[in-house]
Amino acid sequence: MRNELNRLVNTVSDPTARKGFDAEMQSFFYLFTRYLAEKAQNHELEWDRIKSPAADQIVPYDSLPTKADVKSLNKLAVLKVNGGLGTSMGMTGAKSALEVKNDMTFLDLTVRQIEHLNTTHRVDVPLILMTSFNTHEDTLRIIKKYANQQLRITTFNQSRYPRILQETLLPCPKTVDDDKVRWYPPGHGDLYNSLVHSGVLDQLLAEGKEYLFVSNSDNLGAVVDQAILQHMIDSGAEFLMEVTDKTKADVKGGTLIDYDGVIQLLEIAQVPSEHVEDFKSVRKFKIFNTNNIWINLKALKRIMDTEGMELEIIVNPKVTEEGASVVQLETAAGAAIKHFRSAHGINVPRSRFLPVKSCSDLLLIKSDIYSLEHGELVINENRMFGTTPVIKLGDHFKKVSGDMHNVEEQRSQFVAQIAQFQKRFKKIPKIIELDHLTVTGDVYFGRNVTLRGTVIVVANEGQRIDIPDGCILENRLLSGNLTM
Ligand code: UTP
Repeated sequence: MRNELNRLVNTVSDPTARKGFDAEMQSFFYLFTRYLAEKAQNHELEWDRIKSPAADQIVPYDSLPTKADVKSLNKLAVLKVNGGLGTSMGMTGAKSALEVKNDMTFLDLTVRQIEHLNTTHRVDVPLILMTSFNTHEDTLRIIKKYANQQLRITTFNQSRYPRILQETLLPCPKTVDDDKVRWYPPGHGDLYNSLVHSGVLDQLLAEGKEYLFVSNSDNLGAVVDQAILQHMIDSGAEFLMEVTDKTKADVKGGTLIDYDGVIQLLEIAQVPSEHVEDFKSVRKFKIFNTNNIWINLKALKRIMDTEGMELEIIVNPKVTEEGASVVQLETAAGAAIKHFRSAHGINVPRSRFLPVKSCSDLLLIKSDIYSLEHGELVINENRMFGTTPVIKLGDHFKKVSGDMHNVEEQRSQFVAQIAQFQKRFKKIPKIIELDHLTVTGDVYFGRNVTLRGTVIVVANEGQRIDIPDGCILENRLLSGNLTM
C-alpha cells in the first residue's frame, strides 16, 4: 500500500499540490494501518461491557436554561456537513442542492435561517460548509448568489481518499486524476482533520469564535438553539450531542453508550452481528444521535495538537459499477465525544431532526403540513395532531439504483428520479388531515388532491391508477386498474 500511495503522489507534477496530496495520503495511510491492526486483533466491542448511559449523561431539553445571553452568539459559528452523496435517495450531487420548498434548496433555507438569526440579534454568526469532491461545485453554484450579502459563508473541502480493492487491499486509483468513482469522502468524522488542514479552525479561533454548531446539511430542524448554547457555556461541557427518542423508523441510528465509564457513540456498523437485534431494540437503546453536535473550538484545538482525534473506523464495503469489490474506511463526527471533557447528550424534541432520506420525506416537507418562517419549517397550526403523517411511497417514486460511473451520469440519474417524483404529483396533495398514506405501483396524482385519514393506493403490476384533479380521498383503499 505504502509504495502504491507513493506512486500516486508522484503522479502530481505541481510541487505545492503534491505536498497537499501527500499529506492527505498520509492521513489515509494512518487510517488504513489502524484498520489492518484492528482486523488482525479481531478488535470488537465486548457487548457485556456496554451499558446504557447514566441519567446525568443525557440531559433533558426541558431542563435547559430559559434565559440565554444573546452576546454569546457572537462566539458561535455554524457548520453544515455537506460532503455526502445521499446514496439512500439515489443521489449523486450535493443533496443540499435539492429544491425542497418554495423553490429553495436546503442551502438557501439554511442561509435564510442564519441571516434571520443575525439580523434579529444583531450578531455575526458565520456559516461554514464542509464539501467533498462530489459536492463542491454544486455548493459553490448555489452560494454564489449570496456573495454580496452580509452573511459570511466559508467553504472547505474534506479529504478525498482512495477506495481499497477488497481482494488485494491496494488502492483503486492509479493516478491523482483517476475517475471519481475510485475515490470516496471518508465520512463526516473527517470534519476534524479537514478543519485543521484547511486552516478554518485557526481562522475561527483568531476571529474569537469559541463554539461550533455542526449538523447535517439536509436537517432543516437543526436551527441554532440559544438554550443549548447557554447550557454549553454554563456546564463547561466541551462537546454536546443532541439525541432524540428512538422510534421504529430510527432503529439504525447511532446511539450513546457507557463503555467502562466513558460516554461513547455506538454505530450499527460496530455491532457484532449476533447483537444487531439488541442494538435496534427501542427498549435497551432509547435514543439516537441526530448528528447535531456542539463543539468547544479551543478544546478541539487542544485535542488536535496533543492526542489527535482517533475515531472508530466504520468499514463500508461496496461494489462499484466497474464490478470491483471495494472497502471504504470512514469515521463519524459523533464518535469524537469520548475525547472531550464533560461531554454529554441532550435529549431534544424530534422537531430538531427533520432529515430528508427519501421521496416520502420530501413529500412531507413540501406539503401543507409545514410552512416556512425565515427558512425554518414550522408545523401548520391547522394540523390537529402533534405528529406528522406516516408516508410510504413505493419503488416507482424511489431511487434509481446502481453505483454510477461518473458524476454527469449520476446527476442525470438523480434528475430522472426527482423528475419521476414531479411527474407523479402534478401538485403536492393537501395532507393536513392525513394519518397514513401508502402508495404502491404506477400511480399518478392530479392537481388539488386532498388526502385524509388513512389512504392506501395500490396499482398492481402492469396497471396504472390516476387520481383525478380535485379528488378528495378520506379513509380509502384504492386498488386494481382504476381510472377514476
Ligand atoms: P449520511 O451519509 O449519514 O446521510 O450523511 P445521507 O447524506 O442522508 O446519506 P445516505 O442517504 O444515508 O447515504 C449525513 C451528513 O453527513 C454528510 C452528508 O452530506 C450529510 O449532510 N457527509 C457524509 C459528509 O459531509 N461527508 C461524508 O463523507 C459523508
